[in-house]
Amino acid sequence: MKKIGVFTSGGDSPGMNACVRAVVRTAVHNGLQVFGIRRGYQGMIEGDITELSAPSVANILQYGGTLLKTARSADFLTPEGRKIAADQLHRHGIEGLVCIGGNGTYTGAMVFEKEYGIPGIGCPGTIDNDLYGTDYTIGFDTAINTAMEAIDKIRDTADSHNRVFFVEVMGRHAGHIALLSGIAGGAEGIFVPERQNEFEAVIHTYSQKSRNKEFSIFIVCEGDEEGHAYEVARRFQEVYPDTDCRITVLGHVQRGGSPTAMDRILASRLGAHAVKGLLEGRKNCAVGVVSNDIVFTPFSEAIYKKKDIPENLWSLNAMISR
Ligand code: F6P
Repeated sequence: MKKIGVFTSGGDSPGMNACVRAVVRTAVHNGLQVFGIRRGYQGMIEGDITELSAPSVANILQYGGTLLKTARSADFLTPEGRKIAADQLHRHGIEGLVCIGGNGTYTGAMVFEKEYGIPGIGCPGTIDNDLYGTDYTIGFDTAINTAMEAIDKIRDTADSHNRVFFVEVMGRHAGHIALLSGIAGGAEGIFVPERQNEFEAVIHTYSQKSRNKEFSIFIVCEGDEEGHAYEVARRFQEVYPDTDCRITVLGHVQRGGSPTAMDRILASRLGAHAVKGLLEGRKNCAVGVVSNDIVFTPFSEAIYKKKDIPENLWSLNAMISR
């Protein structure tokens, strides 16, 4: 293998630039030529491909977002689109790919490898931390720190006014951000899609006469089965009409910002090992860190297996939050 490509795809996450930097520097160190493919699979189809050198990725690891840009490509879902993408890669002589993104990114790489034999290794880049085969995804640590800082600020004003706040955090189908930011922020209750009946538990706790808290903060994952923060707050006010409730939806603020040290280090490790994986002849798999060790998980598992929220942290929070 002499030439590889790297791209970011799907939702951006802080640390993607650090990952691209590590991919490029590792590749160059090993005598490979590296091409940056802009705007993910869509840019691949459109031939938006340029060579990256070691100096060209200087001074980027501290930035959030992705300098390679990202896109969701409808064209790549079609066989015709993938054919054009393969032709573009062949034109540049690209023989392997490092694909930084989430589940959709992995799925695209798996199908593409099957159809065109171009090996791809996935790097888990999403704030949701919902990918099997790695303890943490690139961007998750930054996102939970952002959420925690927001919760701290909300705590000040909740305390001053004796209010009940419902803070909605991201997580399309997964409650990792909600659980970890909730623990770090000292939330009284957390709503996640992986667990049911949190509303009843919250009502039960809130109704305890022994509680002497004058304000409360609840974290609601956007993907929770009970509904979004507005719905949970509405139901809460039906039970407690005299409480002064407020809702804050953190939204895309969680996707941006300078990556934390943890995310930069994780991204650097994963990017470097993705390239090493390609050089070792690996394909059709995602690189991850499990118990601090680098592991490669076949796409067939990484895509379809569900990563549950850590049960020990869920029960810890239940014990210490009341
Ligand atoms: O997957 C990351 C994520 O931020 C989810 O938490 C959220 O549901 C989704 O992306 C939002 O996607 P978009 O930026 O396309 O609105």
